[in-house]
Amino acid sequence: MILTDDSEFTADIALVSYQDLADDLKLREKYLQWLNDFEVVAPIISPELIKVKDMSFIEESFRRFTKEEAQGFFIKYHPFDDYVGTIKLDKINQKNKSGELGLMIGEKSLWNKQIGSKATAILLKYAFEYLQLHKVWGGTDEHNIAMKKLFLKAGFKLEGRLRQVNCSNGIYSDNFYYGIISEEYFELIKVNN
Ligand SMILES: CC(C)(COP(=O)(O)OP(=O)(O)OC[C@H]1O[C@@H](n2cnc3c(N)ncnc32)[C@H](O)[C@@H]1OP(=O)(O)O)[C@@H](O)C(=O)NCCC(=O)NCCS
Repeated sequence: MILTDDSEFTADIALVSYQDLADDLKLREKYLQWLNDFEVVAPIISPELIKVKDMSFIEESFRRFTKEEAQGFFIKYHPFDDYVGTIKLDKINQKNKSGELGLMIGEKSLWNKQIGSKATAILLKYAFEYLQLHKVWGGTDEHNIAMKKLFLKAGFKLEGRLRQVNCSNGIYSDNFYYGIISEEYFELIKVNN
């Protein structure tokens, strides 16, 4: 599955599902490199991501994010004609109609170039207009300024914080949680058009 959006803002990227890329060995190598880059994974604050990974981690990731309840996409950046990161809708809950957004731009040289914001806009369109979810939510460490800004700019609202649940080098920090409800998404689309 390939997700695009016809707005000018998102024209230079597309989201390609993990299913479609399962046999792309070059991409697997690149994905592994991103996941072993401490600078890329450290802000995600996930214990299993901090460890050194091998190809079995990539296999597991493809298995995990090619399901109805966990859908992963690689972010294709057209100016590079290449993949530069991943975005996921995880923990998709059909009863409550909710899902969790996860995002990683693996190519550090492309941070702060709006690629994460564009990928999020396309994923939200898919979540609300195609999957017809009621809510998309996500969390990030209090020190992840870019992700905190990105959530707010994409239309998420800050819903709460879990105090001192993250620990890095012996220093505890809070995790901030954000969410966007379908009505808020459609209102945003109306205003922006
Ligand atoms: C966090 C991340 C996904 C953001 O994606 P990105 O493409 O770099 O972000 P964008 O360019 O869309 O920028 C989003 C906002 O953050 C701001 N921003 C980006 N990098 C920043 C930085 N280092 N410091 C302060 N603000 C920053 C941007 O200016 C933008 O705000 P604006 O639209 O008001 O100008 C990306 O940096 C990344 O993958 N980091 C490592 C993994 C990670 O932290 N993932 C999220 C885990 S929850």
